[in-house]
Amino acid sequence: MERMNKPDLRTARKRSKSEVLVNEYQLSKDIKDLGLGKKFLIQTHGCQANEADTEIIKGMLLEQKFTETDVLEETDLVLINTCAIREGAENKVFGELGRLKSFKRVNPNLIIAVAGCMPQEEATVERILKTYKHVDIVFGTHNISKFIEYLNYVMKENKSLIEVFSEEGHITEHLPHARDNRFKAWVNIMYGCDEFCTYCIVPYTRGKERSRRKEYIIEEVKDLLERGYKEITLLGQNVNSYGLDFENYNYSFANLLEDLSDLGVPRIRFQTSHPKDFSDELIDVIAIRDSVMPHIHLPVQSGSNKVLKKMNRKYTKEQYLDLVDRIYKAMPNVSITTDIIVGFPTETEEDFQDTLDLVRKSNFEGAFTFVYSKRKGTPAATYETDITEEIAKDRLHRLNELVNEGYKRGNLRFQDHTVKVLVEGISKNNPEVLSGRTENNKLINLKASKETIGQIVEVRIIEAKTWSLEGEAL
Ligand code: 5AD
Ligand code: SF4
Repeated sequence: MERMNKPDLRTARKRSKSEVLVNEYQLSKDIKDLGLGKKFLIQTHGCQANEADTEIIKGMLLEQKFTETDVLEETDLVLINTCAIREGAENKVFGELGRLKSFKRVNPNLIIAVAGCMPQEEATVERILKTYKHVDIVFGTHNISKFIEYLNYVMKENKSLIEVFSEEGHITEHLPHARDNRFKAWVNIMYGCDEFCTYCIVPYTRGKERSRRKEYIIEEVKDLLERGYKEITLLGQNVNSYGLDFENYNYSFANLLEDLSDLGVPRIRFQTSHPKDFSDELIDVIAIRDSVMPHIHLPVQSGSNKVLKKMNRKYTKEQYLDLVDRIYKAMPNVSITTDIIVGFPTETEEDFQDTLDLVRKSNFEGAFTFVYSKRKGTPAATYETDITEEIAKDRLHRLNELVNEGYKRGNLRFQDHTVKVLVEGISKNNPEVLSGRTENNKLINLKASKETIGQIVEVRIIEAKTWSLEGEAL
């Protein structure tokens, strides 16, 4: 082990007032064609932020002339882009690292890299150092732009490297991208999170909120449009606070949506929104602009005011319901989805009933539901609780039954309607049909000619099922 710079969660908690500088992606002059004749394989865990990061890492590797493979036995480099949000996600990565040990024995030249949110946690880095000594490169979310430099060092010096920064650095622009989809693209509009919900590790692993300057976002979107992209999804942990970190704040997320829709983007989506910052100005823009899709992902987490307070969510059940009400009034056709955690420390059956009540009243058309997972270093990890795994799982099960009714209701309302669909490709389950997404983000299988792939077409809905729609292009 030669280069080592380890993280610590206490430093990661700090929020400096210093201005976030922007720099350009640049490599040392002596690095060129590092990957000639070599292959790479990337495994991505977690959220869209990680998927977007993987596209950047892939872009950097392709630029160095690596080629991609999905066969572990033949790869020269394997990178795991990790997620730290719940224990289950972390265990999957540790399992994978264990499995890779035998591959390294067969091929000692195999380079194993661990990236993403897990390296930002000191306990994880210690565990890798102790138990997974076959890992060659560990780097975090703040220094992705340095990956090729690290790889160059490890390949040339034949040494391992751990470099994780606890404080977020600059924003790096003009990073290479190898986008997975030809018609839909992720566009980061901000990084990090300052909310500090008490259960959540993200503010530590992804650092303070930093917005990208609008000029760079607009430039990226213009380029995507020129290359034929039909849909962009704006990414941020809390897109509603876009721009609040700029010194002279006078440009909001709603303004950004307007400017992007003026460019002529056929479809704009965004996630994730924090309910506390969802302004009426934003509701109006989504309602008025046809290119902003009628789907809002609005994580509520709990319906109990006591639990919401302990979670530091900064809104009440009543305020959330009022927001949902205002959204439905402005956009009767909108689909709202959410995230919910059950089994948060001290959650009682009565608190859980408040959550079920909120779900019933909100008419959600989908939800990601989770059992609370204790994250070391977060405030909630110190909260006493007597909730057993059995109770939590039972609540999850009851919640999912209710949530699934919402999926079905959300699809049924389109039965016999005509909707617009972005056709994405051949269906995974049936080569005879194509699949895509409706404006409300419903998965749809449709009969249409292959020429429609990549286009937005009108589709008649023939059957509405719980998890998907079936239709026929007109
Ligand atoms: N345990 C369970 N779920 C969590 N989430 C975030 N942190 C935790 C945790 N410690 C969920 C929240 C969030 C989603 C991305 O993951 O619901 O909205
Ligand atoms: Fe985590 Fe809350 Fe930030 Fe979402 S808003 S990333 S749940 S701290």
